[in-house]
Amino acid sequence: MTALTLRQYLTQHAFDPDLVFLIEDIASAARSIASLVRSGAFDGNLGSADEINVQGETQKTLDIMANDVFEATCANSPRLAALVSEEVEDVTWLKEPEADDFLLYFDPLDGSSNLDVNLSVGSIFAVMQVRADGDDNVLHKGRNQICAGYAIYGPSTMLVLTKGDEVAGFTADPVTGEFRLTHPAMTVPPETSEYAINTSRARHWHAPVARYIADCVAGKDGPRGRSFNMRWTASMVADVHRILTRGGVFLYPADSNNEKAGGKLRLMYEANPMAMLIESAGGAASTGLGDIQDVTPQAPHQRVPVILGSRDEVAVIEKYHADHA
Ligand code: AHG
Ligand code: MN
Ligand code: MN
Repeated sequence: MTALTLRQYLTQHAFDPDLVFLIEDIASAARSIASLVRSGAFDGNLGSADEINVQGETQKTLDIMANDVFEATCANSPRLAALVSEEVEDVTWLKEPEADDFLLYFDPLDGSSNLDVNLSVGSIFAVMQVRADGDDNVLHKGRNQICAGYAIYGPSTMLVLTKGDEVAGFTADPVTGEFRLTHPAMTVPPETSEYAINTSRARHWHAPVARYIADCVAGKDGPRGRSFNMRWTASMVADVHRILTRGGVFLYPADSNNEKAGGKLRLMYEANPMAMLIESAGGAASTGLGDIQDVTPQAPHQRVPVILGSRDEVAVIEKYHADHA
């Protein structure tokens, strides 16, 4: 039996028909971006665009191109009212907001520092809805997401998504580009002995994170009584994909160097969608003090501490935060 196509899956799993159109547009954008990434070196599109985005970060040429692809591919989707992109300072309104219209939040290219070195990058997205009174507020909590997912551009191109019940992974047929269900019901095992953190920031860490990593590094001779492995790709999409595949825990905590900004990763289009995916797969996603999806957003590009992955391990890190509070 051949695997379900993306459309067959979405239809069989009772996705709102207009949401099916939007997800298919996102899948088309992902196919185009995968092709841009793959041919980046031939087309002279690797490297910096010498532009600074709203985050104060230097944009890569492909960051901008991927953003343009998302905008062009999704803009005519029925009931899509607004776009919130990492690469665009202001909210882009496509229509007068009406109740239940869709709001699309996206990181067009995640892990773009990995482009020049030919490692996996991705795109992250979340969908929320305009409130019943039709106001133009886009700052809803992650709990209001009706769909979240990412595309990963690695050895194969995949689309992984959820509407909150289960997480489904689709692989693009390398010849036709069609996404087919290859990873049904992805789950995060509750326990793990693998962590992901950028240890070059160790001198900035706060006590709970420093203690947690020290305990992991101490391995079977330390308080955890077992040895841990470490992976850090510098692409959140790739790290989360590994965790959805074999478990693990990912930390980009607030530290003394980034806490003024709130952390590093962005709430609306990085932390929230990954939190929804991880929780839907049985894992947990926390700031250290509470669930990411319960954070009340104050600004579209707000940053937040991120600790997500295997449930029991996130609980240990939350306990360390509580101990030090
Ligand atoms: P982006 O490329 O969209 O700016 O995101 C990069 C993020 C995330 O993907 C990754 O986990 C993290 O930044 C890497 O940070 P370091 O450079 O500190 O390792
Ligand atoms: Mn990113
Ligand atoms: Mn990005």
